[in-house]
Amino acid sequence: MQPARIMEITAVAEAAAIASASWVGLGDKMAADQAATEAMRKAFNDISFSGRIVIGEGERDEAPMLYIGEELGLGGEEIDIAVDPLEGTNLCAYDRPAAWCTIAVAPRGALLYAPDTYMWKVAAGPACKGKVSIQKTPTENVHAAAEALGKPVSEVTVCILDRDRHKAIIDELHATGCRVKTIDDGDVYWCIATALPESGVDLVMGAGGSPEAVLSATGLKAVGGEFSARLGFDADPHGAEKRARAEKMSDIDLDAVLTMDDLVRSDDAMFVGCAVTGSELLDGVHRYSDGTITTETLVLNAQDRSVRIIKTCHRGEAGAVRI
Ligand code: FBP
Repeated sequence: MQPARIMEITAVAEAAAIASASWVGLGDKMAADQAATEAMRKAFNDISFSGRIVIGEGERDEAPMLYIGEELGLGGEEIDIAVDPLEGTNLCAYDRPAAWCTIAVAPRGALLYAPDTYMWKVAAGPACKGKVSIQKTPTENVHAAAEALGKPVSEVTVCILDRDRHKAIIDELHATGCRVKTIDDGDVYWCIATALPESGVDLVMGAGGSPEAVLSATGLKAVGGEFSARLGFDADPHGAEKRARAEKMSDIDLDAVLTMDDLVRSDDAMFVGCAVTGSELLDGVHRYSDGTITTETLVLNAQDRSVRIIKTCHRGEAGAVRI
């Protein structure tokens, strides 16, 4: 993406984060998600581009806003968009770290239309590019990562969602002697963190959402990381019916190993994530009594290979400058 798009898309993520931040800790994840979705849609519609949602809040009949196929913007360059308006709805609702508003953009046709089910994923930073894969066992991936990173297995940390479906993988990982970090929610954040220094996480494994996989792959592509996946109908309680539906609607091989290039078919892609609640990487939304709001957004842009954290002071009518 041209660097000029960076500020436009950042502003969209910021608007969503500010809107959902009003719901932090109130225990209502649906309301938090809806606030992010409404704000994101409104902000997209102010941009001079022809945006099209490829990954969004669902099919048109089930999602009133940011549904798959929705056209956004004032017209112009044709761009495809994947969004998770609030990634980690529970993290926001219960005021836990690393809820954020996420967007991936790429040229028209470049983002995979992934059926809404799970995806088995392996994510890693640039040092592990070409070394780890969904075709390898967890043990093989841990050893490959240890070699690529030049450290003992005991210093490799694998992040995985704390779910019953992952019990066997977690047991296998512990048997290797590596460290396992289990998370409640929010695998996009941790997939991208594998590529960032000092994140404390080297690999992400397990089955998470397939929309989240496209967002994660875009971010990792922008920074030269690795992402390998396979659709996870087998992990989904409604997998059989979703698979039958996907067979009719989708032209992709539903059993194929999906590389980063399958998920994001362009080198020109950008990932943007604006924090709602704080994390090791980003400060969450802060509101001050004079009306000033501050936000922090991670922007990964493949085109100029840039990695930015954009801190913005939204001053309102009379707020002070705080940066
Ligand atoms: P939401 O943003 O919809 O709350 O999803 C959070 C999340 O934890 C994702 O990060 C992850 O990919 C997915 O849910 C896992 O799904 P499940 O909770 O069904 O295991």
